[in-house]
Amino acid sequence: MTRKITVLGSLNADTIMHIDRLPKQGETMAMYDATTAPGGKGANQAIAAARMNAATTFVGAVGNDQNGQMMLDAMKADNVDITNIKTHAEIGTGSAFIMLEKDGSNTILIHGGANQSLSVADVQSAEDAIINCDVLVAQFETPLEVTLKAFEMAKQNGVFTILNPAPAKTDIQPELLGLTDLIVPNETEAETISGIAVTDEASMEANARKFRELGVQNLIITVGARGAYYSTVNGAGFVPAFKVNAIDTTAAGDTFIGTLASQLELNLSNIGDAVKFSNRASSITVQGAGALPSIPKLAQVQAAIEKDV
Ligand code: RIB
Ligand code: NA
Repeated sequence: MTRKITVLGSLNADTIMHIDRLPKQGETMAMYDATTAPGGKGANQAIAAARMNAATTFVGAVGNDQNGQMMLDAMKADNVDITNIKTHAEIGTGSAFIMLEKDGSNTILIHGGANQSLSVADVQSAEDAIINCDVLVAQFETPLEVTLKAFEMAKQNGVFTILNPAPAKTDIQPELLGLTDLIVPNETEAETISGIAVTDEASMEANARKFRELGVQNLIITVGARGAYYSTVNGAGFVPAFKVNAIDTTAAGDTFIGTLASQLELNLSNIGDAVKFSNRASSITVQGAGALPSIPKLAQVQAAIEKDV
C-alpha cells in the first residue's frame, strides 16, 4: 500500500548568496554568485516524501505572486496534492535568504510572509487531508497554534505525527510534544527544547530521556555530517552519515525527514534501516545545488545504496 503523507508547513522562495565566508558586522562584501530556487522546510520535506513515491498532500499558504506560482508549479511537478495550499490575496509568498559558504554550510534568514497567515480555520478546512493519512509532518515555519490544532486532529484519528522543531523555538506548547509520536531535531533544536547540549552519545541519550519526560517517546537527533542518533520504543543507536563532498547542505535535514516519513514502519520495527536510508538520501541532497532541485528520487537513493557511493 502506498504510504499517505500530509505535510503541514512552509513554502519559500530561496535566494542563495554564494560567498567565501560570512560577512563581519559593518562589512560590505561581494558574493561570487546569486541564485534562486524553490525551498521552505515544509516544501522540501513534502518533495522528499513524494520523490520516495509516497502519496503526498500539502497544507500551507503562498502569496498571489510569481514566487507563489513557482512553488505551486514545483509541487505539482512532483505530484504533490496542492488542493489545501491557499493563495493569500495580500501577503506575499515566504522567502529565505541563504548565505552559502564554499564548504556547503549555510546560514539562513527567513521571512514568513504567507506561511505565517496559515490559520486554525485553514487546518479545519483541510481536515480530510489531516485525518485521512498515515503520517502528518510539521515544522516551525508556520504558526505553532496551527500545528497544535492539526496534531490534535491527527492523533484523534490514529495518524502518526512527526515534528521537526525547526527553526528552534522556545515557546512550544507542552501539549504539542504530548501529541508528537516522533520528534526530529538537529543538535541546536534539541538543546533549545531539552536544555541539554548535544555532544557525545551520552548527551544524546540524556536528550532522549528528557524528551520522554516531556511526553515524546521517540527521538531522532540529526547531527549533520556525523549522522543521526535515534532512541525509540524499538531501540536506540547511532547511524553514521555517508561521507560525500558537500557543495550545498540546504535541505539535507528536510530530505532526511521526508524520506524517513515515507520509509519508516509505523511500529518503528525498521528504525535503524530507515535512518540509514534517510541518511543516504540526504547525502545525495548535499551534493546538489539549491533546496528542492537537489532532493533525490527513490531510484537514485537505491542506486547509491547498491554502488555504495
Ligand atoms: O531547511 C532548508 C530550508 O530552510 C530552505 O529551503 C529555506 O527556505 C528555509 O526554510
Ligand atoms: Na542541496
